[in-house]
Amino acid sequence: MQIEKNVQLQSFNTLNLNAIASEYVKIYSIEDLIAAIDYAKQQQLHILILSGGSNMLLPEHIEALVLHIHIQGIDVLEDTSEAVKIKVGGGEVWHDFVLMTTERGWYGLQNLALIPGRVGASPVQNIGAYGVEVGEFIESVQVYDRQEQCTKDIAAIDCQFAYRDSIFKRDPNRYIITHVTFRLFKKAQLKLNYGDLKAAVGDDLTPENLQRQVIQIRQNKLPDPKEYPNVGSFFKNPVIDQSDFDQLLTKYPHIPHYPQAQGYVKIAAGWLIEQAGWKGKTLGSVGMFERQALVLVNYSCANLSDVQQTYQAVQNDVKQKFSILLEPEPVLFDRTGLIRSHSE
Ligand code: EPU
Repeated sequence: MQIEKNVQLQSFNTLNLNAIASEYVKIYSIEDLIAAIDYAKQQQLHILILSGGSNMLLPEHIEALVLHIHIQGIDVLEDTSEAVKIKVGGGEVWHDFVLMTTERGWYGLQNLALIPGRVGASPVQNIGAYGVEVGEFIESVQVYDRQEQCTKDIAAIDCQFAYRDSIFKRDPNRYIITHVTFRLFKKAQLKLNYGDLKAAVGDDLTPENLQRQVIQIRQNKLPDPKEYPNVGSFFKNPVIDQSDFDQLLTKYPHIPHYPQAQGYVKIAAGWLIEQAGWKGKTLGSVGMFERQALVLVNYSCANLSDVQQTYQAVQNDVKQKFSILLEPEPVLFDRTGLIRSHSE
């Protein structure tokens, strides 16, 4: 385990924020992880877990020990004629992993192709796209439990997966994800009920084609973080109750929406942002992308306060027009490496 000092994290976060960590270490194994946690305790530092950096907002100076998870490996635990159970290191790149599963004829994750980030981050906010959420294919998550100071497996049911949510998101200082175990299927799993995916897939009803179309749709709509630094959807799609929704509908009959359980309705945040005039609009060096208003882009060397200025302006304008407060999706950190609430 090699601790480095004053490390620039700009190239490790997809929003390209300038962020210097006072201490930084690459983690290749559970042994490294335990040693690093002990070191942080001795030094009285908080720890900040860095994975693919695709869903985080970092301040310019971080007085903490940053643990950069590089745990690799893909182990087949069970292989039957119907399904395969595989345990994957948290540091594996998500998209490469999805491509590998498709190549091997292990199906389920094709709708989730091209999502940035690493495997270990996928359960945290239960990544989802085109009608599939990763939690549907997770069997268990292996964590280091900082409260009980041991590693353990948490079964999917106990992860409490929900829309962009899980126990890992709700209790972020407790669990460090080291591995994720998936159950994937040998028979094609084609989920085509989202928007224009069915039309894009056409008659070639194969998982390989489904994956190709998802990649194409994402490439057309979503900016490549290498070209336009971003963290994917910047806000969650708000979920409101039926009576509030009915009021909105009388004023805006074309509002894109998705009925949810128990009388709730999910509204497309991208539409709200576009209607509030923010699609393709920038404030300083930060703006909302011209082809998908839900994605905030760092157009040149922005720091965290520039990002905050823009997203708060978007929130204010949407609030004024629709009386809906958009909730940011990425995780916000303070100078000591702790997770902060966006509303403080
Ligand atoms: N829309 C607009 N203007 C825009 C963008 C969207 O009017 O600028 C409307 C579209 O016309 C459409 C609706 O909003 O009717 C939904 O848009 P889209 O299908 O692009 O999906 P989304 O709701 O914007 C969500 C996820 C994405 C995921 C896609 C596809 C959230 C917060 N975002 O986006 O996830 O890829 O669905 O399933 O749930 C991410 O989390 O980083 C992410 C990219």
